[in-house]
Amino acid sequence: MDRRIAIVTGANSGVGWAVTQRLARQGVRVVLADIDDAHARAESLAGEPGGEGLAVALDVSDVAEVDGLFERCWAVYGRLDYLVNCAGVDRVNTVAGATVDEWDWIIGVNLRGVFLCCRAAISLMRRTGGGAIVNIGSTFAFTGNPKSAIYSAAKGGVHQLTKCMAVDHSAEGIRVNCVAPGPVDTPMLQREISEHSDPGEMEAEMLRGLAIKRVATPEEIANVVWFALSDEASYMTGSIIVADGGECL
Ligand SMILES: NC(=O)c1ccc[n+]([C@@H]2O[C@H](COP(=O)([O-])OP(=O)(O)OC[C@H]3O[C@@H](n4cnc5c(N)ncnc54)[C@H](O)[C@@H]3O)[C@@H](O)[C@H]2O)c1
Repeated sequence: MDRRIAIVTGANSGVGWAVTQRLARQGVRVVLADIDDAHARAESLAGEPGGEGLAVALDVSDVAEVDGLFERCWAVYGRLDYLVNCAGVDRVNTVAGATVDEWDWIIGVNLRGVFLCCRAAISLMRRTGGGAIVNIGSTFAFTGNPKSAIYSAAKGGVHQLTKCMAVDHSAEGIRVNCVAPGPVDTPMLQREISEHSDPGEMEAEMLRGLAIKRVATPEEIANVVWFALSDEASYMTGSIIVADGGECL
């Protein structure tokens, strides 16, 4: 089999970087797509079975940039086996307190970005007979949380987009699943805690709600993502796979 190729968005940090490393360990060559410069990350993969990655600057909400990146992937590798949509942003706010620009930014990255990348990926995957997509959702799509309305709406959209794409593209050999984490120890979570009026209390309250009394490591989420991409999950599509330390019990 030719070397498998993956595009990971948000690959420069947190969950995206852990997924990238996991894929490279599995022998997959990874295109690291991030709005931040991921060249150092890509080079650091050189010793892995998947080899050095390809870092590409990408704003997932920009249609021309997204379509350009996926066509470049096709031109360079002639295939796309996996897409993992990890790029995400959050800003703590209520609907009444938010600006329209905040709405456009959070929905643009977290929901429009998933739509654009999935659309481009499906058009490549169907050329070679299939592939697998994992979108990173969130347990925030299931529950009401303070000052998280826009982010939660975006994640609810990601969950539903996942289920509908799974139905539409199963016959083309494309599986689409969603991994919905609870709190994960990444720069995003650290930012949210540090911006809280009482960071200690926020952290304590978060842990009280978890059966497993700690937040996830990015690697624990990457393990689930790899399972959902791999042939081990061949009968799974349209699934929202919750990895939340027992938060939703
Ligand atoms: N950390 C958590 O507790 C948690 C919980 C549930 C879900 N998630 C989700 O996991 C995913 C990864 O988040 P994380 O915690 O690793 O955050 P992170 O901030 O560590 O990483 C997010 C990455 O996305 C990139 N990014 C931001 N805007 C972009 C854009 N327009 N185009 C391309 N890349 C862009 C950033 O540069 C960064 O590398 C996100 O979808 C997030 O919503 C995180």
